[in-house]
Amino acid sequence: MSGSGRVGVGIIGAGVISEQYLTWMTTFPDLDVRFVADLALDRARAQAEKWGVAGFGTVEQLLADDAIEIVVNLTVPAAHVPVGLQILDAGKHVWAEKPFALDREGGRRLLDRAAELELRIASAPDTVLGRGIQTALRAIDAGRIGRPVSARAVFRSPGHETWHPNPDFYYQPGGGPLLDMGPYFLTALVQALGAVTRVQATATRARAERVIGSGPRQGTVLTVEVDTQISGLLEFAGGATATVEFSFDSALPYAPVLEVLGDAGAMLLPDPNGFDGDTEVFPWGGEPVTLPVAANPGRGTGVLELARAIRADRPERASGALAFHVQDVMLSLGEAAASRTAVEVQSTIEQAPLMSEDWDPTAATL
Ligand SMILES: NC(=O)c1ccc[n+]([C@@H]2O[C@H](COP(=O)([O-])OP(=O)(O)OC[C@H]3O[C@@H](n4cnc5c(N)ncnc54)[C@H](O)[C@@H]3O)[C@@H](O)[C@H]2O)c1
Repeated sequence: MSGSGRVGVGIIGAGVISEQYLTWMTTFPDLDVRFVADLALDRARAQAEKWGVAGFGTVEQLLADDAIEIVVNLTVPAAHVPVGLQILDAGKHVWAEKPFALDREGGRRLLDRAAELELRIASAPDTVLGRGIQTALRAIDAGRIGRPVSARAVFRSPGHETWHPNPDFYYQPGGGPLLDMGPYFLTALVQALGAVTRVQATATRARAERVIGSGPRQGTVLTVEVDTQISGLLEFAGGATATVEFSFDSALPYAPVLEVLGDAGAMLLPDPNGFDGDTEVFPWGGEPVTLPVAANPGRGTGVLELARAIRADRPERASGALAFHVQDVMLSLGEAAASRTAVEVQSTIEQAPLMSEDWDPTAATL
């Protein structure tokens, strides 16, 4: 059933990232943000009041609202699967934050339960739906660099404890630079080059402890339970290859790299953790060309795309199956590093269609 009218939305998890989701989702006329829930009721209340959302309270109260069709799960990684299953069991569609799950079993449970109940589970990152990366993908599709042959992705930072007030989860299973930042870069690469079939990797960790750098818990020491520097080699179904690096061990300034090389040119893509930014095209033997993209709506774009897909009875682009494949690739990279052998990636995925050029999140279409 596709239903009709604006789509009711609830949010579980009123932490740091809820600010960005609420900023945008409350401006989209096709969404009706109705409720914010959190284990910490004061946090749920503060965000609901700040953003003019009528309801706040517990997860159970949120799930009892029949007018909520999509629940946005912004909890910490360890809660993504149990909370996701709870949402599905309440008969509602899920928008999941990344990482999709801590392991393949958890991810499969989410996909299987959604299929059984004929509900949808879509997932971050939705940055890949932003005009920045979409412009780059459209240029690749149009043949601006010829046949894509190889790619390079680099994310390096000192670690999120420098700015996040509760960064514990970044150093626990489900965290680390691979599972935390990998989804942005790897989803963009899968959309550009196709499914990943085989990986190799190395992994290290520079420090056994991290210190919270801001907020009320500043100075608290965290134990590092995950690798904090991962370097990998990827092979794609179409024959392309990529080198990737994800690090929380770098004192160098944040300077993300995403390049795709083709047989007729090269391309520098914008930061895949953003929704805008220019693409630079370097044709063989020609002058570089800039494809400019100004700021455009951010997190919550994927929830809106899911809502419109539900009403139109068509598949959503940021699907759970895509997130599962990216998760499978990341877990395979971890296994390749631990075993010092190449790992075949078992899952596969078709590239999602490009967003239409006239996609307008600010339009009332439902
Ligand atoms: N912070 C960022 O910049 C950022 C960016 C993109 C994605 N994300 C992802 O979003 C998710 C949340 O990140 P965050 O930075 O907002 O974390 P956070 O710790 O600031 O907030 C998480 C919130 O979820 C609540 N919560 C945890 N378990 C719950 C449960 N079972 N039921 C109800 N509420 C529960 C916590 O009380 C907390 O308020 C993570 O998966 C993270 O990877 C974060």
